[in-house]
Amino acid sequence: MSDGETTSNSGDGQRKVFVKTYGCQMNVYDSQRMADALARDGFVETDAPDNADMVLLNTCHIREKAAEKVYSEIGRLRQLRDRRRKGGADMMIGVAGCVAQAEGREMIARAPAVDFVIGPTTYHRLPDVVARARGGEKVVETEFAVEDKFEHLPRQQARRVQRRGVAAFLTVQEGCDKFCTFCVVPYTRGAEVSRPVAQIVEEARRLVGAGVREITLLGQNVNAWHGEGADGRSWGLGELLHELAGIEGLARLRYTTSHPRDMDDALIAAHRDLDVLMPYLHLPVQAGSDRVLKAMNRRHTADDYRRLVDRIRAARPDIALSGDFIVGFPGETDDDFEDTMRLVRDVTYAQAFSFKYSPRPATPGADMAGHVDEQVKSERLARLQALLAEQQAGFMQQLVGKEVSVLLEKPGREPGQLVGRSPFLQPVICDETVGKIGDIATVRIGRASANSLISEPMQRRRHAA
Ligand code: 5AD
Ligand code: SF4
Repeated sequence: MSDGETTSNSGDGQRKVFVKTYGCQMNVYDSQRMADALARDGFVETDAPDNADMVLLNTCHIREKAAEKVYSEIGRLRQLRDRRRKGGADMMIGVAGCVAQAEGREMIARAPAVDFVIGPTTYHRLPDVVARARGGEKVVETEFAVEDKFEHLPRQQARRVQRRGVAAFLTVQEGCDKFCTFCVVPYTRGAEVSRPVAQIVEEARRLVGAGVREITLLGQNVNAWHGEGADGRSWGLGELLHELAGIEGLARLRYTTSHPRDMDDALIAAHRDLDVLMPYLHLPVQAGSDRVLKAMNRRHTADDYRRLVDRIRAARPDIALSGDFIVGFPGETDDDFEDTMRLVRDVTYAQAFSFKYSPRPATPGADMAGHVDEQVKSERLARLQALLAEQQAGFMQQLVGKEVSVLLEKPGREPGQLVGRSPFLQPVICDETVGKIGDIATVRIGRASANSLISEPMQRRRHAA
């Protein structure tokens, strides 16, 4: 999962909401669905908090100081709200997402400026929560919801889907039952829940009908998705992908994030059999030492992972692999860390995310013996990141001179450019003459920078200028 902060689109209207999203793609999807729910209440999205009648922070709790960052953001918003009040306006402050879930009522106690706190499983109750908050109540809605939130969230409207672009997210699964000992997700997102096939297919059709060309299926443990298929049999993600691949107009499918234990034969075979399934797989391993993997409760060994990668590559030889790594888990020795480096060399990643271990409240890892010195963690992370960067550069470089298909997504930074994504997920900067947004263009890669590919005609133009 990638990290970052993203903000919502702007619009004009009477009541404005500014949604700020932290963390993973699942939060991006949730923010969109919350904005949809608020749109029904007459809210339009704005891209700055200054003129917003409501600010909604969709927070992430995965790594260090997450809650602290949210509290400082609330402090800034409170000042903004005070200024607005002097001018006769007001501003409601809501906190959603995993920090909201973890902090619950504590959040109102620590930051009384907050009007409501809502956890990730209860977003369908947002309009009701906002109404109660408007009535002066400090609302905390963090009980895990029994009813299906997706069933109750409003459908996405074509107009709003179009504004969001030709590549869309679709959450098919939420929560996690794996309980890796470093991770807060099982506590903030709750138990694993899969959305039913019919609901997913209907949402996918709706997205494609509105012009979406690529769908990324999302779940904290997406490949643990399961459901009753149209044929009455029990389906896994492989079968679901086959079903979605049949939707006319849908050009590309992806899914993230997967657990190695849940990569079953049908899913691996889908990578061989489905042209629309892009050759990219985010398959976190976290560490390369069996001792550490065991302490992390990952339920697989380093060699299990190596064998799995071999099977996936046998099905789809050009697949780009991506991973997540944690260095400095409690008890990790120099030798353990060398095992991680060895695994990375054996596997070869096209892209990866790597982090220093940070103890998360209430997770078993936080209470384990043998916490690693920060300095040592930093040194290990620097070495790992240098190796991963070298592998990423190698992957990008081998695409130079090759033809790749690009889904054109948006205008580039400079006039005359369009930016899209390769099948392997890198941004590709193209000349606007190659097609229009939503097209899949075939371009030859002329050059690679650290994070993007530049297609050839642009190269020539640059040289000519
Ligand atoms: N410390 C460091 N990294 C973590 N991640 C999850 N929890 C922690 C933690 N406590 C990383 C894992 C996971 C990614 C989303 O974030 O690598 O796959
Ligand atoms: Fe967290 Fe492990 Fe579940 Fe991933 S599989 S969400 S790392 S507990």
